This record gives sequence, C-alpha cells and structure tokens, in this order.
Amino acid sequence: SSYTHILAETRGKVGLVTLNRPKALNALCNDLFVELNQALENYDNDPNVGCIVLTGSEKAFAAGADIKEMKDKEGIENYKNNFLGHWTHITNIRKPIIAAVNGFALGGGCELAMMCDIIYAGDKATFGQPEIKLGTIPGAGGTQRLTKAVGKSKAMEMCLTGSVNLNAEEAERLGLVSKVVPAGELVDEAIKTADKIANLSQPMVQMIKEAVNQSYEMPLSAGLRFERRLFHATFASQDQKEGMRAFAEKRKPSFVHH
Ligand code: HXC
Repeated sequence: SSYTHILAETRGKVGLVTLNRPKALNALCNDLFVELNQALENYDNDPNVGCIVLTGSEKAFAAGADIKEMKDKEGIENYKNNFLGHWTHITNIRKPIIAAVNGFALGGGCELAMMCDIIYAGDKATFGQPEIKLGTIPGAGGTQRLTKAVGKSKAMEMCLTGSVNLNAEEAERLGLVSKVVPAGELVDEAIKTADKIANLSQPMVQMIKEAVNQSYEMPLSAGLRFERRLFHATFASQDQKEGMRAFAEKRKPSFVHH
C-alpha cells in the first residue's frame, strides 16, 4: 500500500511504520494521522504480523501536531469536529507497538510516543511538551501519561515551562524510555525486540498488553483480578500446554498462537 506521509513495510513478522514528512519534521497533520491509523489497523488485522515498530527520521520522531494546520481553528468547531479525536485510535491497537524515537519528540510527538507500549530512544533524542510556549496546553496525554511516566515534579516542570526537555539519558533514568541506543542502530534494535515478541504466543502477548494497560485504569484489586482471570484463561490454550511441556521436556516450545 502506498501512503503520502508515512512508509509502511513488513520486516518478517514486524510491521514497520515510518513517519515521513521530513520537510516539516514529521509534524502530525490530520492526513498523516489518518494514514498512521490505517497502517496500524492493517497490521493489527494481519495474522502474519505480531508486533509493530513506529519510528520517524534521525532528526525528528515528530515535532508535534501541525501548528500551521491548527493555528486558525476555533473552539466550538474543534468541539463539533472532535479535533484530535482520531489520535486515540492507536490506543485501541491490540498488538504491541514499539516507538523508536530519534531526534525531536515534542508536543504531540512526545504524546504519540507515550501512546506506544515500549519506547526506545536514540542517543540524540529529545522529549518535551512545548505547548505552553504556543499559548496552549498538551492535548493528547502530555499532562497525563507523562506524569505517570516521570512523576509529578518533572512533568510539571516540563509542561509548565515548555523548555525543560529530557534527553535520552534522562528519559531512561526517569523510566519514560526503556533503552537508549546509538541513533543509527535504533530502528534495528527496536525491530529485534519486536521480532522476539512476534515469535512468542500472540494471544498471550496481546493479553499482557491488555493487562498492563489495565493497571492505568483500575484500582489494584480490580487489576489483579483482571490479570488472574486472563491467567486462568491461558490454560485453555494449546500454547500454554506446549510452553510448559517443552520446559519439562527440556526442549524449545513451538507456539501455534492458539
Ligand atoms: C508545523 C513544523 C512543526 C510543527 C517544525 N515545523 N515543527 N511545522 N508544525 N509542529 C516545520 C518548520 O516550520 C519548518 O518549516 C520545518 O519544519 C523545519 O523546522 P525548523 O524550525 O526550521 O527546524 P529547527 O530550527 O531545526 O528547529 C527544530 C524544532 C522547531 C526545535 C523542533 O521546529 C520547533 O520548535 N518546532 C515546534 C515544536 C513544537 O512547538 N511542538 C508542539 C506543537 S503543538 P519551514 O517551512 O519553515 O521550512 C502540539 C500540540 C499537541 O503538538 C496538542 C495535542 C496533540
């Protein structure tokens, strides 16, 4: 399939989506997001794909929502048109998404990375929420997901000043990203992890994603109950039987994703 603002290709069992508006530092215009949602949806429905990697260029993962496109929008029109409503689609994708962030992840770019399940950063990555400097506020999770990721004080400092950014090392130390790699190796490293995930039992992979995400939505007791019920259900699968038998028989499991 061919897109205008993104590239989508498969690498084995991994769907690789590359944001590709280099002249605008991958600013997230409406059409780009429509294409991104379409590509993610296609991979979610493709039984040959087990995990997705989302990346940008070495200079920018994404420099935010498209400021030029949104600057003249009006409040009630935004409400009526549900401006940015389709940005949440990515959170409905059931397969894991690894964000491979090189360069700028600012505003909506940082928020997009935080909607993914794992973030790897290139060593020159920059994370920030500069919206306050544009006379607005984060609108796609910057005040919420960032706070959960890095804690209140740092999230406040970033969102309130708009100019306190995190470099890759700080982002790793604070837990926003799980790994920092040299910029040129980042995408391959993310694909390597994605490939590992894609070769495990896919129903189990998706249950884990669902359960971890529930930890943001539920009180602990309800989250633990949710997890236990899924755990019980895994014993109805062939992959649980195969995985545990293989361990007992000292061989490698062969999962059938059922
Ligand atoms: C539209 C953008 C853009 C953006 C960069 N460009 N970011 N266009 N929206 N968010 C365009 C520039 O206008 C310029 O176009 C080209 O990309 C290259 O950018 P430069 O500024 O020339 O590059 P550089 O000097 O290297 O500076 C890089 C930068 C800067 C520090 C990242 O571009 C910047 O500050 N961008 C805006 C970052 C930001 O405020 N993001 C938050 C957006 S608000 P021309 O045509 O001049 O070459 C947001 C709200 C989210 O995300 C709310 C809910 C989702």
